Amino acid sequence: MIACSREIEARVEALLDRMSLADKLGQLNQGHGDSPENLELAVRGKLGSVLNVVGAKSTNAMQKAALSAPAGIPLIIGRDVIHGFRTVFPIPLAQAATWSAEAAEEAAAIAAAEAASFGVNWTFTPMMDIARDCRWGRIAESLGEDPCLAGELAAAMVRGLQGRDPDDLAAPERIAACAKHFVGYGAAEGGREYNTAEISERNLREVYLPPFQAAVDAGCTTLMSAFNEISGVPATGNTFALNTVLRGEWGFLGFVVSDWGSVVEMIQHGTCADEADAARKALCAGVDMEMVSQCYEHELPQLLASGAVSMRVVDEAVRRILRVKFALGLFEQPYVDEGRAAQVILHADHRAKAREVAASSVVLLRNEGGVLPLAPSAKRLAVVGPLADAPAEHLGCWAFDGQAEDVVTPLAALRAELGASHELGVAPGLDDPRSQDQAGFAAAVEAAEQADVVLFFGGEPAILSGEAHSRAFLGLPGAQEALLDQVLATGKPVVLVLFAGRPLPLPHHIDRLAGLLMAWHLGSETGPALVELLTGTRSPSGRLPVTWPRTVGQLPLYYNTKHTGRPPLPGCGDIPVGTPLDPVGFCTGYLDLPPTPQFPFGFGLTYTSFSYADLAINPAEGAANDTFSISATITNTGERTGTEQVQLYLRDPVATVTRPVRELRGHQAVKLAPGESRRITFVLSAADLAFHDEQMRRVVEPGEFQVWIAPDAARGIEGRFLVTGTAPMPLDPIDFTR
Ligand code: BGC
Repeated sequence: MIACSREIEARVEALLDRMSLADKLGQLNQGHGDSPENLELAVRGKLGSVLNVVGAKSTNAMQKAALSAPAGIPLIIGRDVIHGFRTVFPIPLAQAATWSAEAAEEAAAIAAAEAASFGVNWTFTPMMDIARDCRWGRIAESLGEDPCLAGELAAAMVRGLQGRDPDDLAAPERIAACAKHFVGYGAAEGGREYNTAEISERNLREVYLPPFQAAVDAGCTTLMSAFNEISGVPATGNTFALNTVLRGEWGFLGFVVSDWGSVVEMIQHGTCADEADAARKALCAGVDMEMVSQCYEHELPQLLASGAVSMRVVDEAVRRILRVKFALGLFEQPYVDEGRAAQVILHADHRAKAREVAASSVVLLRNEGGVLPLAPSAKRLAVVGPLADAPAEHLGCWAFDGQAEDVVTPLAALRAELGASHELGVAPGLDDPRSQDQAGFAAAVEAAEQADVVLFFGGEPAILSGEAHSRAFLGLPGAQEALLDQVLATGKPVVLVLFAGRPLPLPHHIDRLAGLLMAWHLGSETGPALVELLTGTRSPSGRLPVTWPRTVGQLPLYYNTKHTGRPPLPGCGDIPVGTPLDPVGFCTGYLDLPPTPQFPFGFGLTYTSFSYADLAINPAEGAANDTFSISATITNTGERTGTEQVQLYLRDPVATVTRPVRELRGHQAVKLAPGESRRITFVLSAADLAFHDEQMRRVVEPGEFQVWIAPDAARGIEGRFLVTGTAPMPLDPIDFTR
């Protein structure tokens, strides 16, 4: 929870008492950049915040201007520091593939320290929009499809940015976090950016809200309201989400900023007639600060004068903003030391951590005949594909402060590490990932023919994912698939190192690849991290945080789906020519695809193998408020040390409302030497068993529960336990007025 010490509250009230109406309205206004106009607005106390002002000189100048205003209130300076600052970490979806809260926290702490040295006080991250459709470009910025994993990682990022203790926030290397986009942005229909999100209250509460609650519980000081509408009401004017749930149910004391122009966009949505209407609806719904558009600035004086908005609402918004500014220690230290950045930026420890997180983000999806790690005998390597040496592309989307010159590419790392011991046949085949020019194909094929193993570095350039970068065709862009075909035709084993901001279905190629490493966009240390994995210095440990479709036609696709009344059946799609029309055996799915994904959520190979055995549940029967421990023995059955990500899934097979076929309820990484076994135990309590019933009460219903301890969402060893009783057990105080 954000610090709300008596001292801070007293300072907020004392300051509020001294502020004029103009001072107050100024606090609600966020400007963009340090233009002369914005400096002038700051001097007149008409800005509470700016975004995208970076560098000690510029931020100090802005702060100086704000402090010279009558009320002398420092600005809170915001910036999108999404996956690192100058040291760039893997994109958030890749960080989610680590399944490691520790990695996410450490990466965020480094990003915060570097950004703070540039005068940034506040970042618009973490983004925890649940994403079930990889056509959506912002899936790259998300933490995947699972509410439990996304919430755990988002909370870790909040701790990394802000510190673990409320008082840490005032330290010079900490900045305020912003959980975004509240809420439902990832549910854009068809994966089309900014599109309508139609979400039932049950799905909102079960799927989209929990990661935000985890971030708020971790002390996140701010939230950003989303661009989208939620079932007819824009998120930026959504009283239910912002006031009922966020403030009322969760007790959030920080402030909410709109997204870029999302207040004025309510006119386009068609729920507001004009700027005055938009300002009133957003502020009254609970959006405290307006980003960039100026409806508050232009309209609030008149809205207050007419009584359409009450002073109480304005005071409350100002109070929330000041609370965060005090907690950040901005009144004590508004300026940043101009010499600090040089000591912090790209520090060797930061790069080492970036390499470690990058390596842990990579997911090994295919490894036929153990082509990886590269055998000592594989001395001749062909280095093919347009992304072997494209430093800017490895920064990924939303990396404004990263610089291409700081990136070590795969080719540079291969040359540095293997240049002396191996023969590297370098022939990219394509100059650019989107190029259609096949002039370089012959050289690439020739390099492949001379090689023991072909390393094909391909995929999406960074610009094809992120905001407003949804795609309808998700294969390899440009002529890459044709290049891959020609290289595969040499018969040499081909390892595809795939870079992308999302899973890319490759239905015509996957089965022909010897190896497939999902490398997302890994940031500054891309090359060294990959070489460690290719050579086996390190074993892959990443797991998919999203379901990987076979083809775009399956989207949206996610593991925690419902069973339906006609669940998938084997052979359901088989209709040989001449089959008469007969509605027997009809089931959910497609005629022309198996019901399964290409790779399930949670999937990832290692350089060894693991077995799961001896599932035990204790007690086998218990009351709803008991705890149940579920354990199993995991054994490394292969020949190398490896890390397994052991996952616990739950299902409530009979309930008063339909429940997902599986839901993740925990996971533990276990590192085992060959032949070594470990007993892993998970503990489930009422909060894990609960769901929202027909009346939207959070309850545990008596009956049987199914659990799996599993390597991914599609496999595992199964057991059952019984929750005894005759009536549902409510978890939260029940609102009987519903
Ligand atoms: C994005 C936000 C971002 C903001 C500020 C918007 O377009 O949706 O995620 O934080 O811009 O750059």
